[in-house]
Amino acid sequence: MNRQRVNIGIIGGGLMGREIATALGRWHALVDHPVSPRLTAVCDTNPAALAWFDQIESVTTKVADYRDLLADDKIDVVYIAVRHDLHEQMYIDAIRAGKDLLGEKPFGIDLDAASAIAAATAEAPDVFVRCSSEMPFYPGAQAAIDHIRSDTLGDLIEASCGFSHSSDLDLSKPINWKRQRQYCGEAGVMNDLGMHVLHVPLRLGWHPTSVFAILQDLVPRRHDASGRLVDCDTFENATLVCQAPRPNATGGFPLTLTTKRIDPGQKNTWSLHVTGMQGGVSFSTREPRTLRVMESRRGEQVWQEVQMGSQSVWPTVTGGIFETGFSDAILQMWAVYLAERAGALGDRFGCVTMQEAVSSHAIFAAALESHRGQRAVTPSTAPALHV
Ligand SMILES: NC(=O)c1ccc[n+]([C@@H]2O[C@H](COP(=O)([O-])OP(=O)(O)OC[C@H]3O[C@@H](n4cnc5c(N)ncnc54)[C@H](O)[C@@H]3O)[C@@H](O)[C@H]2O)c1
Repeated sequence: MNRQRVNIGIIGGGLMGREIATALGRWHALVDHPVSPRLTAVCDTNPAALAWFDQIESVTTKVADYRDLLADDKIDVVYIAVRHDLHEQMYIDAIRAGKDLLGEKPFGIDLDAASAIAAATAEAPDVFVRCSSEMPFYPGAQAAIDHIRSDTLGDLIEASCGFSHSSDLDLSKPINWKRQRQYCGEAGVMNDLGMHVLHVPLRLGWHPTSVFAILQDLVPRRHDASGRLVDCDTFENATLVCQAPRPNATGGFPLTLTTKRIDPGQKNTWSLHVTGMQGGVSFSTREPRTLRVMESRRGEQVWQEVQMGSQSVWPTVTGGIFETGFSDAILQMWAVYLAERAGALGDRFGCVTMQEAVSSHAIFAAALESHRGQRAVTPSTAPALHV
């Protein structure tokens, strides 16, 4: 098969930059993918972060100024994974340089920043822009989405989607930029984890029409690397009780969105739980092999377990019965991003669009307003972007 060669540059070679480089190194696991990506360039202001990429032979360019990477005509796609306060300028510069972009969430530090990136995207219709969100590419999540879309659940009763960590329960853990408002954003944990819990609801058309938020700042101060106590001024946990419109019917149903840095017992748990008048479906990455499906039988509700294997949106050489994990979800997200860019995704589940990224920020803004006023708030309607 004649695969289209695509040169990739990474800006931000930290936790996620390294994860993406590793996923691209496993590309041959994908079956009949139309694209052959090659990681050729990396940018990071930290020399130690850049040095990690020495082991990847295809990386021939290492720079400290991202504008040098954007000026390289040989780079087709950039992946940007930096602090949230840096997103707006870098994403806009990348788009204006004509680079296709897979940008990390939350796609700007707030709604204004996301809207500015969206405006730049609208001015560059040939540039392909998507936002990172990989958890829905677990096979169990895809199977749950298929169940919901097949209409076998009947009239929806309620839905919830959550993402939970717990390492912040350790009060001796030093602070980092993700726990500081000036770098992470006022939305705090919602900026960190919110796009992950909104990807599926927004794709299914469940745009909240009202949001009531309970936001918790559980750890007000933390030590920095030098041992000094400094402000830890972000919300650790956010519970959003929303009303979403009922599909093909009037009225709404409750949609609960939870993002938590302190959910004791959870390490990195993404979950989706939906019930309807005729059935239900439930999946959690805590048990990545297990999809739970509810059906009514002879008047009883029966929750059944279905074992999940390895296959998600894009087929791989991995045996169908084998286990799946975070790295596989990242590979799937990239397979889908580059397939859609090449016009080869069809109607399969794709990455977060610009419109969805802006909508997520409108929901976080409504949550902040709800928290301040202790009342339910209607999220502003993002203008139709068609991007
Ligand atoms: N999709 C996911 O599952 C997931 C997980 C974690 C983080 N993220 C997102 O990824 C992004 C980065 O998070 P991270 O955990 O990788 O952070 P990180 O702190 O580990 O890495 C950020 C890197 O950016 C570099 N950097 C800082 N300023 C720079 C500049 N001006 N130019 C170039 N490089 C610069 C830093 O030196 C660092 O190496 C954030 O948007 C975060 O929300 C996504």
